[in-house]
Amino acid sequence: MFAHKLSALAALVPAVLAAQAPAFAPAAVVPTAASNNYTGVSNGTLSNSPVVSGKAFDRFIQIWLENTDYDDAANTSAFMALKEQGILLSNYYAVTHPSEPNYAAVVGGDFWAMGDDNYYQIPSNISTVVDLLEAKNISWAAYMENLPTDGYQGFNYTSANYLNSSAPPYTFYVRKHNPTILYDSVTTVPSRLARHRNFNDFAADVNASAIPQWSFITPNMEDDGHDSSIDFASDWLQFWLTPLLTDPNFNDDKTLIVLTFDENDSYNINNRVYTLLLGNAVPTNLHNTTDPTFYTHFSALSTVQANWALGSLGRQDTNKTVSNVFAFVANATGYQNLDVAEADIPLTNLTGVYNGPLNPNQYVPFLAPNMSAVGAGGGPVFVASNLDQSLTTANAPAPVNLTALNETVPSEVTTTASAPGPSGSGSGSGSGAVHVSAMGTASAIAFAGVLAALCMTL
Ligand SMILES: *[C@@H]1O[C@H](CO)[C@@H](O)[C@H](O)[C@H]1NC(C)=O
Ligand SMILES: *[C@@H]1O[C@H](CO)[C@@H](O)[C@H](O)[C@H]1NC(C)=O
Ligand SMILES: *[C@@H]1O[C@H](CO)[C@@H](O)[C@H](O)[C@H]1NC(C)=O
Ligand SMILES: *[C@@H]1O[C@H](CO)[C@@H](O)[C@H](O)[C@H]1NC(C)=O
Ligand SMILES: *[C@@H]1O[C@H](CO)[C@@H](O)[C@H](O)[C@H]1NC(C)=O
Ligand SMILES: *[C@@H]1O[C@H](CO)[C@@H](O)[C@H](O)[C@H]1NC(C)=O
Ligand SMILES: *[C@@H]1O[C@H](CO)[C@@H](O)[C@H](O)[C@H]1NC(C)=O
Ligand SMILES: *[C@@H]1O[C@H](CO)[C@@H](O)[C@H](O)[C@H]1NC(C)=O
Ligand SMILES: *[C@@H]1O[C@H](CO)[C@@H](O)[C@H](O)[C@H]1NC(C)=O
Ligand SMILES: *[C@@H]1O[C@H](CO)[C@@H](O)[C@H](O)[C@H]1NC(C)=O
Ligand SMILES: *[C@@H]1O[C@H](CO)[C@@H](O)[C@H](O)[C@H]1NC(C)=O
Ligand SMILES: *[C@@H]1O[C@H](CO)[C@@H](O)[C@H](O)[C@H]1NC(C)=O
Repeated sequence: MFAHKLSALAALVPAVLAAQAPAFAPAAVVPTAASNNYTGVSNGTLSNSPVVSGKAFDRFIQIWLENTDYDDAANTSAFMALKEQGILLSNYYAVTHPSEPNYAAVVGGDFWAMGDDNYYQIPSNISTVVDLLEAKNISWAAYMENLPTDGYQGFNYTSANYLNSSAPPYTFYVRKHNPTILYDSVTTVPSRLARHRNFNDFAADVNASAIPQWSFITPNMEDDGHDSSIDFASDWLQFWLTPLLTDPNFNDDKTLIVLTFDENDSYNINNRVYTLLLGNAVPTNLHNTTDPTFYTHFSALSTVQANWALGSLGRQDTNKTVSNVFAFVANATGYQNLDVAEADIPLTNLTGVYNGPLNPNQYVPFLAPNMSAVGAGGGPVFVASNLDQSLTTANAPAPVNLTALNETVPSEVTTTASAPGPSGSGSGSGSGAVHVSAMGTASAIAFAGVLAALCMTL
């Protein structure tokens, strides 16, 4: 870490905390080896449908790190080295603060006015990129480093601290960084739930050349920089990503990798995050170049839609201002990006100020998408079978302050009742963790209760 940053940190962080910050150590011998530092052993490789060709890439891998300002990432060794192998997107923005709404947005096309990291189950009438991909038989998975078991839906998970064996068990996995698990349209379908896999599964899938066509990768709370530092995350990238870039089972000829951050660290500046496009799908003449086009996390949706001529979600993925397609993909697909001048870049550093279904102070129910929107893929807006198409933006009810009524939003799971944790989980699941069984019974009951209470109040 650089001297100026060390001193800034020392001023902010109590000495005792700084002293406890562990040094990077890998959780596995190599990225393609299974490790008993992860709870669940792999139960075999992912079964994928045949590859569907895209116009600019056949495989799309997103890797999200945490809470780092653009300039700090730019000055970090792993990023400086990786930049030479890809395209730096110098005007890529997160969409809000804190973490969880950004993860919700990159798969759902909206963050639903969420302004915190609470436990949400977004209702099943709300669609995600999974619906768009599966409509074209494009395989997908979410790889969460310390997810204890496939499809685990609990709020977090605590296991032996492999970084310091004399320290108590540590919370390496958090639900708030797992984008697709937030959506009931994903979790209520068993075949979809099973596509949430840990890094033992990841190792098995790379070894078997079974990495799907779309994947989202979340390192654990230390490796992603959240509980550590950008230098720790940089060490993890050098351990994990750098060798995988030369492994054709991960980075084949048609692989595009987006390496970015959920959000920046300084809320008082706009929310620009350092983002690299890597992988062999990046044309070699563009290596070590910078693309200053204005992008956001919604661009990760529009780029995938353009590449495979998918339908859209009719949300912010189709808002041209915030969903430019990565330029080399736009060129390959004939999509026309919008030239957003520096002065017109919206502020994306705001928290909890929007009307919507996950803001208890300004609650509006989940509304239907814009059914006439046309996204970068040109296909139709995906409509869930249980969507109320008549509940539109135009006829939305006025916002209600549920907080003033002592209510939470209906999608928030506030139960602390615990269901049994996964069996054989060794050092276990952490006292007080909210456990939701795969069927989500406890939360479904709590959800119904909150809904009933809300109906009575309204
Ligand atoms: C678990 O992590 C520790 C710390 O990096 C490492 O020494 C050990 O080899 C890991 N275990 C396995 C099975 O990879
Ligand atoms: C790196 O740090 C220096 C000193 O703080 C700063 O001037 C510079 O803008 C940063 N970014 C890059 C890309 O070097
Ligand atoms: C997807 O796969 C199913 C089952 O193999 C097939 O019936 C369907 O036509 C495929 N859809 C597309 C869009 O290829
Ligand atoms: C694999 O299956 C076993 C037995 O059901 C289970 O204990 C283990 O957690 C599973 N592994 C993963 C990664 O889900
Ligand atoms: C957001 O960033 C702008 C600068 O781009 C700053 O003026 C504003 O105060 C920030 N907003 C918040 C809530 O910190
Ligand atoms: C990448 O570009 C920088 C200048 O922007 C240059 O100093 C460096 O040598 C280049 N690296 C390669 C591998 O071409
Ligand atoms: C599109 O995005 C811009 C910038 O965030 C915003 O001002 C505008 O309201 C959005 N349009 C719609 C229809 O959501
Ligand atoms: C896209 O195409 C335009 C026009 O041909 C060209 O100027 C630009 O360099 C291309 N950009 C990328 C990133 O391929
Ligand atoms: C979606 O489902 C939620 C929960 O049942 C409901 O409150 C909302 O009105 C529904 N919205 C639409 C557009 O179907
Ligand atoms: C909602 O109610 C809470 C509690 O009374 C209050 O603190 C908050 O300012 C209100 N927010 C709005 C937008 O009315
Ligand atoms: C909300 O709860 C507070 C404290 O428990 C209580 O004083 C207040 O009367 C309640 N308000 C409503 C609208 O029930
Ligand atoms: C894990 O979940 C429990 C139960 O909700 C909570 O009390 C605890 O703060 C969480 N820990 C972390 C690190 O998120």
